Parts: sequence; structure tokens; C-alpha cells
Amino acid sequence: SNKSIGAIAHTNIALIKYWGKKDESLIIPYTSSLSLTLDQFYTETHVTFDESLTADVVMIDEQEVNGQGWQRVHDFLSIIRKRAEITTNAQVVSTNHVPTAAGLASSASAFAALAAAGSKAAGLDLSHQDLSRLARRGSGSACRSIYGGFVEWRRGTDDHSSYAVPVTADNGLSDVQVIALTVERHRKPISSRQAMRLSVTTSPYYPTWVKIAQTDLAAIKSAISNDDFTKFGEISELNAMRMHALTLSANPDFMYFNSETLESMNMVKQLRHNGIECYYTIDAGPNVKVLCQRRHVNDVVETFTEMLGADKVTLAKSGPGVHYL
Ligand code: DP6
Repeated sequence: SNKSIGAIAHTNIALIKYWGKKDESLIIPYTSSLSLTLDQFYTETHVTFDESLTADVVMIDEQEVNGQGWQRVHDFLSIIRKRAEITTNAQVVSTNHVPTAAGLASSASAFAALAAAGSKAAGLDLSHQDLSRLARRGSGSACRSIYGGFVEWRRGTDDHSSYAVPVTADNGLSDVQVIALTVERHRKPISSRQAMRLSVTTSPYYPTWVKIAQTDLAAIKSAISNDDFTKFGEISELNAMRMHALTLSANPDFMYFNSETLESMNMVKQLRHNGIECYYTIDAGPNVKVLCQRRHVNDVVETFTEMLGADKVTLAKSGPGVHYL
């Protein structure tokens, strides 16, 4: 069929981080993780399988993509083709509403949207669970962007058992505010794929990370169901720093923070000291996400706007799961 299918997926911020693959080709992680899907950052993708194409064509943000980027999309489309039992090439047109490669995990929204649009365009009608498993093959964190709100990626043991599930929060915590500080818009110096591999194979703390990830996940889930923002924030901040300790303790060592990252972290602690309860989390990049409750959001936004400038501060909230256009 030549039908064009469009889908939108939002990015997510991990509060309990995914950091390390047990199986690199299927993307099976060593640990389960938990995230919040965000309303402000998303990818819109349209896919058309077209008999007249002699190769897959990939357009991202109005630019034709070649080389490694093309290969990654092509490989992903081939997983869909195999499943749909077709050989047709596809045109992929994708638009990011995310600061690319600056720690806002655009690969999560990108592969979640591509999984949804691509599978449907190929004539498949996948369940959310199967969409999550498919998205995971493109980028691990993408399996969580199939769902809105809080989402747990259950690590599983193989392709069949590793997928995300929604975590319900029928309480105040579903209204958590995320202030995204875009301190750096440039591409990260080391891909998360290489970085994870280095942490897994060279950090002496990696086995401990696998152990504590279980404890942190259980603790944050109970904080979410008990509507305990303090526990929720403390665990998120601690888990993020424990992940970054795996980069600092790798050989060769590396670090994602820059000076503005450190200043922002210190500011969060100072705000907290002054009774404005907020916490930070940081992914594989220098950007900082500040977590707070609604009653403190104005103070937090004002503080960072003064410090970094309004263009670097974006207020986000819980966002929706993948949907078709
Ligand atoms: C720090 O999902 O981008 O954001 O599976 O290699 O594509 P690949 O990695 P990716 O890694 C995300 C790492 C993280 C933590 C997280 O999102 O859980």
C-alpha cells in the first residue's frame, strides 16, 4: 500500500536511568528504568512504503539524511518489513520539536514515532506492548515513549519480555513540573551507545549499579503511589548522580557536565535550602531538568530565567503517549 501514515511521540525524561545493555543488538538492558513522558518535546513522523522507490529515503527536519543516520533508520525499517513480510522501500519524513542531541533524548521520541507510523504504514496493527518492543530496537529509551505519564521499562530477559508499561499516578505526583534547562544545544561528544558500553566494561562500580537500580526503582514506585514528592525527588536526584558516577569511574573517564550544569545543580540545592523544594536529574548531556511541585514552579522558573536567560528555560509537564495523525 502507498498510504502515508503520520504519528507523534513525545520524549521522556528518565528518573531511574537506563544505562547499560546486556544485549547490544536487541537492546536488552541490565536494569529496569522509569520515566516521565513530557508534553513540550516531540517528534512527528510520516512514513510511506512506495514501490517506486529504489532505496529508503529519510528526511529529518527538512534535510535528507545519509550515512550513519540513514543506516539506523534503514535497519529499523527492515525489522518492520520482515515482520510485515514486505520488501518495499519507504520514505520517512520526520520533524523534531526537541533540541537535538542536547540531552533531551530525541532518539526516544524519534523511534517511538517511527515505530508507530512505520508499522501501521506497513499494514501491521500492533498492540502498545508490541509497539514498545519494536521502538526499543531503535533506541532503548524509545520503548517508554509509547506511553504517557510515568512509565516503567521492565528489563525482561529477551526480545519478547523487554518492554515498557504505564505506571499509574492518580494523585498529586502526576502533576510534577519539569523545568528543562537547555544549557547547551550542541551535539554530545560521545554517543550514549559507546558511553554505556564503556561504563559496563570498565567501571568497577557497574555491578553495584545493577543492584541499586532495583532498590531505587522500587522506592520511586512507592513514592509515586504514596504521593510523596520529597522521596520522589530525592531518589531521582540520587539515581541520576549514581549513573554519572559510572562515567566518572570509566576508563577512559568522561563526564557530561559543563560549568553551567554545575552552577544549575548548585542553584537547585540552594533553592532547596531556602525552602523551595526542587531536585535535578541529568541525562547523557549537559542539560539539567529540575523537578518541583506546582506551588514552587514560578520561583524556580524565575530563578533560572535570571541565571541563564529565558531562551534556555522550558517548563514541561506530563505528556501523552504515541498517537496517530
Ligand atoms: C541517559 O535510549 O538514547 O537518557 O538504547 O543506545 O539508543 P540507546 O540509548 P538511549 O539512552 C538513554 C540514556 C539516558 C537514560 C534513560 O533515558 O533512561
